[in-house]
Parts: sequence; C-alpha cells; structure tokens
Amino acid sequence: MLKGLIFDLDGVLTDSARFHLTAWNNLAKELNITLNDNQLDSLRGISRMDSLNLILKYGGQEDKYSEAEKEKFAAEKNTKFVEQVETMTPKDILPGIPELLKDAKAQNLKMVIASASKNAPKILNRLGIMDEFDGIVDPATLHHGKPDPEIYEKAQKIAGLKADEVISFEDAKAGVESIKAAGQFAVGIGDKELLKEADYIVPSTAELKLSKIEEVFERK
Ligand code: BG6
Ligand code: MG
Repeated sequence: MLKGLIFDLDGVLTDSARFHLTAWNNLAKELNITLNDNQLDSLRGISRMDSLNLILKYGGQEDKYSEAEKEKFAAEKNTKFVEQVETMTPKDILPGIPELLKDAKAQNLKMVIASASKNAPKILNRLGIMDEFDGIVDPATLHHGKPDPEIYEKAQKIAGLKADEVISFEDAKAGVESIKAAGQFAVGIGDKELLKEADYIVPSTAELKLSKIEEVFERK
C-alpha cells in the first residue's frame, strides 16, 4: 500500500536543473571543454564534485588540476547557480506539482526530498514549499551519489517506510537507477528512452496525476 512519496528536486519540483546545466556548460567553456547534449544531460542528479570530475574527464583533463583548483572551480559554478536561485519565486514550481502535493496531503502520504543538492533547503524556501515535506536527506551525509541507492534508501528511512510503500520521482537517468537499486517504484519525468528503467514515465510534470500513477503502482 502506498504510504509515501520521495522527490528529487532539480528538474522535478522546479526547473533549477537548467540553471545547473548552464552554469556547468559555462565553466566547461572557460576550461576549453565543449560538452555535447548527452554529456551535459549525464550531469543531471550528479553531485557537485562528481559533475566537475566528469566534465574534466570528458575534456581529457582529469589529471590537470589540483584538488584546491577543483574546489575553486566548483565554488565559482555554485556562486553562478545561487545567483539564479535567488531570483526564484513560488511561480517557479513546475506545472502539475502543486496538485500532486495537494493530492498527496489529502491521502496523508509522507513526503521526503532526495536531492543531491546542498542548495535544496534554499530552493525549497524560495519556492515556499519547505513545510510541505517531512524531511530532506542531507547530501553531506552520503558516501555515494546517484546512481547508488543510498540517497533513496535514506529518504525511505526518514519517511519510516518500506521500499514497496513509496513512489519516487526523478528527471535524471542516474536518479532512476538509484531508485530502482533501492527497490522502489520509479516515476521518470523526461525522455522515454533515457529513463526507460522507470516504472512509469511522463514527458513533463504537467502529466503527473497521482491517481493514475497509483493505479500502475498497485498493479506492480
Ligand atoms: C542535483 C542536480 O540535484 O544536485 C545536479 O541535479 C547538481 O545537477 C547536484 O550537481 C548538486 O547540487 P549542488 O547545489 O550541491 O551543487
Ligand atoms: Mg533532478
């Protein structure tokens, strides 16, 4: 029986994923690295340092910089990202999400955030929906990033539920893999082919309807 929902944040509740990708793309250009669309997309859901390391790898520069230099690049990218976050308002909640949260509340479902972002509390506050959630996984406590199941397992623990009692939402391939590795039901938001491991896929959040998703969940 469904008892809780677990949400990724960037690209699921709001379109901040686009701010991350723009900020990374700009940094990559400064480092003379050109990222193609697939490489850029593969950064979704990946932690700050893992993203930077991946970009350097794509550019064949994995051994070029010291840890201190890498920290500086990551901090620069974060400053640019936070500048964008500061402009966010409740209007930036993606279509379909307010209804989904309302339907979940009406059913007394537990709701937890499983975002790799250290900026998640800041973003939730800007959106004015911090109080809707029963908890947030602190990404600083994680040993492994997505696609490892750790973050979704932790979120499930915060909710106090079993794997077969939750539905988890993701826009990233690495995120869907993380959910499935945790043994949970995955809703993928985005490209059908890219997110094919998910149990239920919609092209955008506007298509999310809790009753419809629950029907598929109950049949599994
Ligand atoms: C994830 C994003 O939610 O958080 C990634 O999808 C991002 O793109 C990661 O790199 C870490 O975010 P932050 O805000 O801690 O740099
Ligand atoms: Mg995401």
